[in-house]
Amino acid sequence: MDTIYEDMRDGLDLDAIRRGGEILKKGGLVAFPTETVYGLGGNALDAEASAKIYAAKGRPSDNPLIVHIADWDAIEAITEGLPPAAKLLADAFWPGPLTMILNKSELVPRATTGGLATVAIRMPSHPIARALIRAAGGYIAAPSANTSGRPSTTRASHVVEDLSGKIDMIIDGGDADIGLESTIIDLTEEVPTVLRPGYISLEMLRGVLGSVELDRGLIAADSKIRPKAPGMKYRHYAPKAELIIVEGPAERVREKINSLVHEQLARGRKAGVIGTDESLLYYKEGDVRSVGTREDEITIAQHLFGLLREFDESDIAVIYSESFETPQMGQAIMNRLIKAAGHQIIQV
Ligand code: TXA
Ligand code: MG
Repeated sequence: MDTIYEDMRDGLDLDAIRRGGEILKKGGLVAFPTETVYGLGGNALDAEASAKIYAAKGRPSDNPLIVHIADWDAIEAITEGLPPAAKLLADAFWPGPLTMILNKSELVPRATTGGLATVAIRMPSHPIARALIRAAGGYIAAPSANTSGRPSTTRASHVVEDLSGKIDMIIDGGDADIGLESTIIDLTEEVPTVLRPGYISLEMLRGVLGSVELDRGLIAADSKIRPKAPGMKYRHYAPKAELIIVEGPAERVREKINSLVHEQLARGRKAGVIGTDESLLYYKEGDVRSVGTREDEITIAQHLFGLLREFDESDIAVIYSESFETPQMGQAIMNRLIKAAGHQIIQV
């Protein structure tokens, strides 16, 4: 299949949006930018379109998709028994990087929700995403636009890498503002529960709802307790190289990484380092790269997935990463990094 490429880095192209909407209405697939990561869109109310999404990504079909809407009024038709908490959260954080799990109505096919009776809903803030959703009839199912298992895509070139030739259209909207997927909150539980950390932190959610819990399957990620979001149980984001996180006081982390890199090089293996603008100078050997600056944590979120993809283009055998327990997004950044590292962490 030929994939149409639409460049909207300089702004909305309404003609191309209309063509994208037509493709979606006919059951085709369009990748588009959002403020978090790129999404791979299909008509959420069309079971066949959802099946195509799973096929293009190589994604297990028990892993449900997020339904994207552009207007609050669209939520009634796809949910059953909307709790007051949904409106409170929407007023505080929509449009934006928050996904709510709610009970689904008949209108949403099980093919979209991975067989579940609940549906994940998000109202993105990105103008291209919003225009495309409206042009497509109001409901776009969109997982992150990456091959299943690879890091999510934060720029159109990543999407081209993973999905070109497999989908109808890719819309380029430049680099994603946030770089990590939305926070997911489950409102079908007695106590609202965060299933995936993101830009909207636990503290911000508690500020609106009072009590909010973190899914126990997330905290005890290595134990027998399963995360509630089916997608969180899969191996994810893993680069080709082995990735190991080194955690502890900054100076000791840098010393440890220097000595680990030295050992690898002595054994004839290429090693990489993930540091920050502040620490680059301290690393003496290996392929050293900065993920961002600790003075502005969003820069770390923005570049993490792209950096993991960059390392895949080299023949590095092992990557050592600093850890990033930053104030607002630290939980989200570390959740993705720990998954990418397959839980390999060295404490110093
Ligand atoms: O920021 C985002 O949320 C991006 C952009 C494109 O909007 N989308 C995204 O979708 O990250 P995806 O498919 O990569 O991740 C969706 C996550 C998965 O972990 C999935 O298991 C979970 O949401 N999920 C979806 N529906 C669910 C449901 N009904 N119950 C529990 N978890 C659900
Ligand atoms: Mg994903």
